[in-house]
Amino acid sequence: MNRENALQIVKTQLTEHRYQHTLGVMESAIELAKQYGADPKKAELAAIFHDYAKFRPKKEMQQIIIDQGMNPLLLQYNSELWHAPVGAYLVEKEAGITDSEILNAVRFHTSGRPEMTLLEKVIYLADYIEPGRHFPGVEEVRELAKISLTDALIASMKNTIVFLLKKNQPVFPDTIDTYNHLILTKEK
Ligand SMILES: [Fe+2]
Ligand SMILES: [Fe+2]
Repeated sequence: MNRENALQIVKTQLTEHRYQHTLGVMESAIELAKQYGADPKKAELAAIFHDYAKFRPKKEMQQIIIDQGMNPLLLQYNSELWHAPVGAYLVEKEAGITDSEILNAVRFHTSGRPEMTLLEKVIYLADYIEPGRHFPGVEEVRELAKISLTDALIASMKNTIVFLLKKNQPVFPDTIDTYNHLILTKEK
């Protein structure tokens, strides 16, 4: 599928604001892919589709999580997490994307997972640092992304975890596991 077709499909699923965010993620993902040796075409498609399910009704997402045998723990945590695994499922079913690397990059773009692939890391980070993002700490992560994919990922996950802790929000176990894994496997 080419960029134009993919963008046409997601445009029907997103608000204008979220569509602009998607274009930003696409731009950042292609750049990161080229910089760190991931496939830029796969990065482009994964970025375009990453928030595909963002505006699906909660009830529908809940049902898909149950019916498709996804991690039941998801239902106990913030529903903001749901659009990633549900998105991967719907992008395959409705948009006909079958590439498992692209689908996994969509699937893990909010939680991360230990042993993330290069493409998954690129999409996770692109979602965090795209030019339309403005929040405390983002500039530091943008700078790190120019030097080290791992360091930038660690910084972005740390920000996310600390943000949740400050609000007395629970942290999804996969996110903690991903953070730990990145720290433990980081070359000293
Ligand atoms: Fe998302
Ligand atoms: Fe996003």
